[in-house]
Amino acid sequence: MSLTGLFLTSFLVVHLIGNLQLLKADSGFSFNAYAVFMTTNPLIKTVSWGLYAIIILHAVKGLALAVENKKTRNVKYAVDAGNSNSHWTSRNMGILGTIILAFIVVHMSDFWFSYKFGETPWKKYTIEFANPEQINVEEISGVTKSVNIVSETHQVLIAKDLYLKVKETFSNVIFVIFYVLSMFAIMFHLWHGFASAFQSLGINHPKYNPLIRSLGIVMAVIVPLAFAIIPVYMFLN
Ligand code: HEM
Repeated sequence: MSLTGLFLTSFLVVHLIGNLQLLKADSGFSFNAYAVFMTTNPLIKTVSWGLYAIIILHAVKGLALAVENKKTRNVKYAVDAGNSNSHWTSRNMGILGTIILAFIVVHMSDFWFSYKFGETPWKKYTIEFANPEQINVEEISGVTKSVNIVSETHQVLIAKDLYLKVKETFSNVIFVIFYVLSMFAIMFHLWHGFASAFQSLGINHPKYNPLIRSLGIVMAVIVPLAFAIIPVYMFLN
């Protein structure tokens, strides 16, 4: 659980950096270029299949662990000390994980599935380096493969417009609320999970604990908040 969890946490950081391209006012050029890179680079494509397997492994093992813990505690403690000896996040990792899994299923069927198998329109972006602020965008049809040509004077990118799909999704307030609430589930899950992963790996040392705690705050608070800003910002703009 700790190794797969830490891998998934590192994916979140990379995913966030890519998704922040959505906030650029460039008609989706940077984000669509990033999506082309992520879906065509052979190394990243291979890592992606590993990622799907690790999500399933982490979820299945985590659910089995939650069920096992419930079973072994068939006889209730005489005194339920509740918050005084454990934070509620640590007692509800199974529920938080299930909410996150449901989020990933909805999320991937919306963005990932429509990008790979749906009817996403194609765009052609042309940028003259002498005037990079001016991006020429055209909708084109009859294309089946993305193209990225960079010359000394200009760049031409032909890509599926995933930016448009994300923009459409986040114009619906229900999706915005769903995303923001799901980011809170990630926040609470990582609040316990990140530090606990190091504990499980036996990394508990006064010298490293402050660093792990600070990294934990970045991972459990800053990263989910930064993710949550994206749908809210796109809805408002
Ligand atoms: C505002 C928040 C988010 C946005 C806008 C967003 C956007 C996207 C988009 C556009 C894709 C499809 C393109 C691609 O494969 O890169 C994608 C894929 C994916 N997203 Fe997100 N995402 C967000 C948050 C999250 C979170 C919090 C998680 C995990 C808990 C997550 C998990 C995934 C996974 C597993 C994939 C498939 C990645 C792959 O094929 O390599 N996303 N996301």
